[in-house]
Amino acid sequence: MTTPVLELRGVNKSFGPIDVLHNISLKVHAGEVLCLLGDNGAGKSTLIKTLAGVYRPNTGEIHMDGSAVQFASPREAADRGIQTVHQFGGTFPLMSIGRSFFVGAEPTRRWGPFTIYDRRRANDIAVKAVQEFGITRIDDGDRLVGGLSGGERQSLAIARAVHFGARVLILDEPTAALGVKEAAHVLRIILEARKRGLAVIFITHQVIHALTVGDHFAVLIRGEVAADFRRGERTREEITDLMAGGEQMAELEAEIEAHQRDIASAAVA
Ligand SMILES: Nc1ncnc2c1ncn2[C@@H]1O[C@H](COP(=O)(O)OP(=O)(O)OP(=O)(O)O)[C@@H](O)[C@H]1O
Ligand SMILES: [Mg+2]
Repeated sequence: MTTPVLELRGVNKSFGPIDVLHNISLKVHAGEVLCLLGDNGAGKSTLIKTLAGVYRPNTGEIHMDGSAVQFASPREAADRGIQTVHQFGGTFPLMSIGRSFFVGAEPTRRWGPFTIYDRRRANDIAVKAVQEFGITRIDDGDRLVGGLSGGERQSLAIARAVHFGARVLILDEPTAALGVKEAAHVLRIILEARKRGLAVIFITHQVIHALTVGDHFAVLIRGEVAADFRRGERTREEITDLMAGGEQMAELEAEIEAHQRDIASAAVA
């Protein structure tokens, strides 16, 4: 087995008295999609923020390419190739595609005694990067990000992360607010990133989306890795149950059935 690009070893994170992550150990390899599943409040966002340099673990270690690393800031993590795309693409609706692509790293050119933003170059690079991901509908870098569909926005953010040297791409619920077609689009782009050799960490509530692109799955329950398995090792039902906390799901199903029976008998009466 190759050395994982990123590995967590016994990571714990608490905020004051609140324990959020317990003893998390996980690995992600280049050219692989790790799906991070779990219910609301399970600790998924806290986990990726810990990986992305937003938080530091209280105890435990993060290894990159086999050696321990510590990130003092998200900037440091990004410089090492850990790029995070937050929900809704983390982009700016009132900026143009070219501007938002380069925000904080704008290409410039000389104009007389001044250094100015090189709009045309920014637009060309941004449009080319997005088109290389198969989003050929985007051909004008002057268009506002706010006018893009949710899926296009996610795609733009992913293309941007790859352009700026991502080796580990972290996606926090990129398909959550999207319709079926748009979600399929984003899933295709995740596969494209994998094909290019990135390690992808894909957070989702949607088991179907995870099963479509995932190579490796980890289910978080109350801050612990409750299950860690590879494609084909669990059924969809087993995964759904795990995410909902097993018994709770069975209870809920029994409740729903009882309600349905009540409704059916009310209709007869
Ligand atoms: N800065 C913080 N201070 C205190 N508690 C926090 C902090 N951040 C998160 N938590 C708590 O940690 C738990 C996990 O939160 P987190 O946002 O990581 O969950 P999540 O799995 O991403 O949930 P969701 O699916 O709703 O996005 C929650 O109970 C939350 O209230
Ligand atoms: Mg979250």
